[in-house]
Amino acid sequence: MTLPVAVLVSGRGSNLGALMAAREAGKLPIQFVLVASDKADAPALRNAEAQGIPTLALDPKSYATRSAFDEALFARVAESGAELVVLAGFMRVIDAAVVDAWRGRIVNIHPSLLPKYRGLHTHRRAIAARDAEHGASVHFVTAELDGGPVIAQARIPIHAGDDEETLAARLLVQEHRLIVACVDAIARGRVSLGNATVHWNGAPVMQPLRLGAEGNLQPT
Ligand code: GRF
Repeated sequence: MTLPVAVLVSGRGSNLGALMAAREAGKLPIQFVLVASDKADAPALRNAEAQGIPTLALDPKSYATRSAFDEALFARVAESGAELVVLAGFMRVIDAAVVDAWRGRIVNIHPSLLPKYRGLHTHRRAIAARDAEHGASVHFVTAELDGGPVIAQARIPIHAGDDEETLAARLLVQEHRLIVACVDAIARGRVSLGNATVHWNGAPVMQPLRLGAEGNLQPT
C-alpha cells in the first residue's frame, strides 16, 4: 500500500526533493499525486514536473479572498486523491475551516524547536537569543500558525561562529531527514493525530518524538 500524498510549496523545494529521493530509493511507501504552489515560478514545481508528478500553480491574486483561494486549492488537492498533505515551504497561512477539514491529514515542517519561534526568521532569532540549540519540527497543522501538535523534532547545536546562513544550511540537512522520517511514519500508520495529542504506535505521546541517528523516529 502506498499513501497518496500532495505537497504544497512556494519556493526552492529541497524538502520536496528529499521526499522524492527517498521514494525513488524505494524507502518511502508513498505516491505523489500532486505538487501545488501559490507561485508559478517556484523551482519546486519544475523539479516535480521533471519527475512526472502532476503539478498545479494557482495565483492568490486571482481570488477575491484568502479563503476563496484556499478553498479552490484544497478542492484540487482533494480531487487529486491525496490522503496526506505536506506543507514543505508553503509560505501562506491557510484558512481555519479548510485546515479543520484536513485535521490529522496535513503536516508542516518548520525550522525551529516549536513552540519556540513560530513565524519567520527563526535562525536569526535563535542566534539573537543565544540559544545553545536550534532545530526543526514537523507538526500537524491546525488553525493556529505553527501551533499544531508536534510530531517530531531534529536538534543541532548552535556554534559560536554561526550566522543565519551557516545555521540554516546545517539545519536544512536535518530537516530533510526529519520530513522523510515523519512522512514515512505516517504512511506506515505509526504516527497519527488523536483527540489532543500525537499518537505513536497507537499510544499518546506527551513530548515530540526525536530523530535518531539512523533517521528513525524515537520517543523521548
Ligand atoms: C524550510 O526551511 C522549511 O522548514 C520552511 O521553509 C523552508 C523550505 O525550504 N518551512 P525548501 O523549499 O523545502 O527548500
